[in-house]
Amino acid sequence: MNVLFASSEVWPLVKTGGLGDVAYSLPKALQALGQDVKIILPAYREVLESCDGLKILGWMDSPYGYQTPTIRLLEATHPQFDQPFWLVDCQSLYDRVGNPYVNEEGYDWFDNAERFMQFSWAVSQIATGQVVDDWRADVVHANDWQCGLIPAFLDHHHHRPKRVFTIHNLAFGGHFSKEIYQSLKLPDTWWSPEGAEFYGGFSMLKAGLIYSDAITTVSPTYAKEICTSAFGYGMDGILSSRSYKLSGILNGIDEKIWDPSSDSYLPHHYSVDAIEPGKLDNKRALLSEHIDTVSDAALEAPLFGMVSRLTEQKGIDIITKAIPAMMMQTNANFVLMGSGSSHYEAVIQDLRNQYPDRVFCYLGYSEKMAHMVEAGSDIFLMPSRYEPCGLNQMYSLRYGTLPIVTNTGGLADTVVDASDGNSEANGFVMNSSDVNTLLDTMHRAVDAFKDKLGWKTLQQTAMNKDFSWKVSAEQYLELYK
Ligand code: ADP
Ligand code: GLC
Repeated sequence: MNVLFASSEVWPLVKTGGLGDVAYSLPKALQALGQDVKIILPAYREVLESCDGLKILGWMDSPYGYQTPTIRLLEATHPQFDQPFWLVDCQSLYDRVGNPYVNEEGYDWFDNAERFMQFSWAVSQIATGQVVDDWRADVVHANDWQCGLIPAFLDHHHHRPKRVFTIHNLAFGGHFSKEIYQSLKLPDTWWSPEGAEFYGGFSMLKAGLIYSDAITTVSPTYAKEICTSAFGYGMDGILSSRSYKLSGILNGIDEKIWDPSSDSYLPHHYSVDAIEPGKLDNKRALLSEHIDTVSDAALEAPLFGMVSRLTEQKGIDIITKAIPAMMMQTNANFVLMGSGSSHYEAVIQDLRNQYPDRVFCYLGYSEKMAHMVEAGSDIFLMPSRYEPCGLNQMYSLRYGTLPIVTNTGGLADTVVDASDGNSEANGFVMNSSDVNTLLDTMHRAVDAFKDKLGWKTLQQTAMNKDFSWKVSAEQYLELYK
C-alpha cells in the first residue's frame, strides 16, 4: 500500500511534543510491515539544515492563499531515517528562524492559517499523483489541525485516496476567522456547519473530522472521552455523531531509542534483569548535574521527576503547589524539566531558590536531559487533566521509573494502580487531578518506595510491559485496508 503520512513535526528533524515522536516511529513500524510509507512535512529552516541530501521532485502553483506561491516538493535523506522522506518547500512560508508554530516571542506565526493551508493543499496534490508521475497514495494519513484541510482538499478529487485523520490533541483546533477564510480564497462549498465553519469562523481540525473517511485518536479511552462535553472542546457533537468512523489506537514507543540497556544519552545502562546498580548510577549522574556533592541521603531519598510542556494540561499547577508540602512532610527531592509558560517557569525557579538542595530544574528543551530524567528519577509525575495518549508515562515504565498519573485517556490505558494488589500493577493512579489527591498519591508512592522488594516487583512489571509499535501499526494497517 502507498501511504502518505503528513505531520507538522517529525523527530529528530523538528519536535515540540509527542506528535514528533509518533510521526517518526509509526511510519517506521508501517514500513517494517512492508508498506510504502512516505513521511511528508513542511521544509522548515531547521529541517533543511539538518538533512544531508536534497532532490527536487516537482513543482506546484497553488491557486489558494494571499500570494498564490510556487511550492516545491523535495526528497530528503537523514542518517536517522532508513528511507528518504518528502518536504513541502516554500521559502516565504517555512524558511524562518524559530518554532514551527510560534515566533521567538512565543506568539503564533501571523500566517499560520496560510502556512498549514498551503501545506495541506500541496499534500493533496502529491497524494493524487499530480506532482510525482509514478507515485500516488492509496491512503493519506493526516495528523492534527495543521493537516486538517488535507481531507477537505481531497474531497474535490474523484479518484481520491482514503483519508485517515488522527487527533493527537483536541485542545488545538486550528481556529481562524471568516476574514482569513475569505482572503485565503478557500472554497465556498466548505463554508457550512456540515463543513469547516465553526461558530462563525473556521476550524482546520473540524475540516479533518468532517471530510475524512476514518478518524482515529491515540488511545481507546480518549476516543470515548472526546465524545463528551467535558473533553470535546465543542467538537463532541460532531464526534459522537461520527462514532461509526472514530476509533482509538494506542500509541507505541520506539523501543530502540527508549531502551535503558542501550540509550546513548545515558552514562550507565541497565535492564529489567539488572536494574541496579545502573539505575542508581544514573540517579547520581542526574543529581550531580545540579549539586556538587551527591550525598548518600540524597541518593536514598525518593526522587520525583517530570519532563513536560509546562501547561495546565499536564497538571504543572498542582505539582508546584504540592512541592512545599512534600518538602515539609517527606525527604523526597524533585527534578523538573520543561519549557513553555513563562509563568510556570518563574514558579519553578522560585521553588528552586527556596529549596536549592532538593528542587532541581532544567528550563528548556533537551533530548539528553529528557532521557536522563526518565532514567535517574524513581517516580515520574504526570497528573494530567486530560491526556490523549502520553508517551512519557510509557518511557517511564520502560525505565523502571514508576509513574503517578490521572485516570484519563492514554494514562488510564497504560498504568495500573499499585494499591489494587493486582499482579499487573506498575504505577499510581489518581481518580482526579487536584492537589490533595496528588499529595495523597505522592505519599503512597513514597511509602511504597521504602519497601525495596515490593518496589522492585513493580519496576519489573513496568519494564516488562510491551509498548512496541508493532501491535498498533498492525491496527492502523487494518484500518487502511
Ligand atoms: P505531549 O505531546 O502532550 O507534550 P507526550 O508525553 O506525548 O506529551 O510527549 C512529550 C514528548 O516531548 C516526549 O518525548 C518528551 O520527552 C518530550 N518533551 C517534553 N518536554 C520536553 C523538554 N522540555 N525537553 C525535551 N523533551 C521534552
Ligand atoms: C499530543 C498529546 C499526547 C500524545 C501525543 C502523541 O501531544 O497531548 O497525549 O501522546 O500527542 O500522540
